[in-house]
Amino acid sequence: MSPTTAGPSTPPAAVLCGLAGWVPSRVVTNEHLARRLDTDDTWIRTRTGIRQRHVVDPGQATSDLAVEAGRRALAAAAANGTDRVDAVVVATTTPDRTCPATAPSVAARLGLAGAAAFDIGAVCTGFVYGLASAAGLIAAGVAGRVLLIGADTYSTIVDPLDRANAIIFGDGAGAVVLRAGHPGEPGAVGHFDLGSDGAHEALITVAAGGSRQRSRPGEPSHQDRHFAMRGQEVYRHAVTRMAESARATLSRAGWKTDDVDHFVPHQANLRILHSVADDLGLPRERCVTHVESVGNTGAASIPLALADAAARQTVRPGDRLLLTAFGGGLTWGSCLLTWPSLPHQERTTP
Ligand code: COA
Repeated sequence: MSPTTAGPSTPPAAVLCGLAGWVPSRVVTNEHLARRLDTDDTWIRTRTGIRQRHVVDPGQATSDLAVEAGRRALAAAAANGTDRVDAVVVATTTPDRTCPATAPSVAARLGLAGAAAFDIGAVCTGFVYGLASAAGLIAAGVAGRVLLIGADTYSTIVDPLDRANAIIFGDGAGAVVLRAGHPGEPGAVGHFDLGSDGAHEALITVAAGGSRQRSRPGEPSHQDRHFAMRGQEVYRHAVTRMAESARATLSRAGWKTDDVDHFVPHQANLRILHSVADDLGLPRERCVTHVESVGNTGAASIPLALADAAARQTVRPGDRLLLTAFGGGLTWGSCLLTWPSLPHQERTTP
């Protein structure tokens, strides 16, 4: 490990130097869903903005997506001069197994056995928590380069017959490579705001599978084995918490709303994103959206949206980005980033 120091008194910052997204090839459109659920394209589009999502095939797991995104992000970083990493962090709510963590196997499959590897469980805020953790590893000198992957396969935990949730979620992975650098250079991630409120844990849950359920007698019910969400309450918390977190981050950095060129929110659904942008006084066209093509991909949603925006060249070097996420827990978080010069991105979705 050889972290680059930023000066005698300033700890090194985490600087973005590689990015990639990957989604499984199987596409499920709203029309597909309407064939098996009592729903229709208009309802789904009006309430969520989503027109399709990608889902894994039987046998495909979260690590398979994470490896694909991770490999591409490492290649992008290598083309940018960073060719190995000291730590692999996987943010996910759908690990391959309850034990062990998914990150060590992802690291080994990427030829990175020996690197530190661990998972982050912060539901849809996992990627922002992961950025903060990677920044901490780098600032402390524990790692010089970190591969952070947000990967989720919600199709493996959502009941396919639950029309309220099956329409929202999709599967995917997004990855970034962060290297030690200077806090002021393009690509530096910083001014984090992270928070949680476990008093509302029941709003988003998978009840079975953990120690709480296993210490009870009897088999879990069908419902307890699947993802459950109280949609309307989640909607209200998401808008409030994301707007508060975004403001806290802007205030820490001394940025005004107008300083934000692109707002990159967790892609929960289009109405939530627009409500947060409205609340912040940000024009909606500054809101980076990818949810229409991939649905809500959990911890993958922000890096997938970034990869898509980079491939479309809607974000350009020097642009100032505000990243904000919200998820089960409840958890939320935000940070800022000035866009660096990165190798050309391939589009993940047409
Ligand atoms: N198709 C058609 N009708 C549906 C439906 C579907 N897929 N899902 C639910 N409905 C029905 C409901 O049964 C209800 O019918 P009723 O009035 O006869 O009882 C009606 O539509 C309204 O349901 P409601 O839950 O009030 O809808 P909503 O406007 O709140 O939209 C969500 C539901 C889930 C789209 C919305 O609550 C939401 O976006 N929540 C946030 C979800 C989210 O982004 N979570 C991730 C956070 S990380």
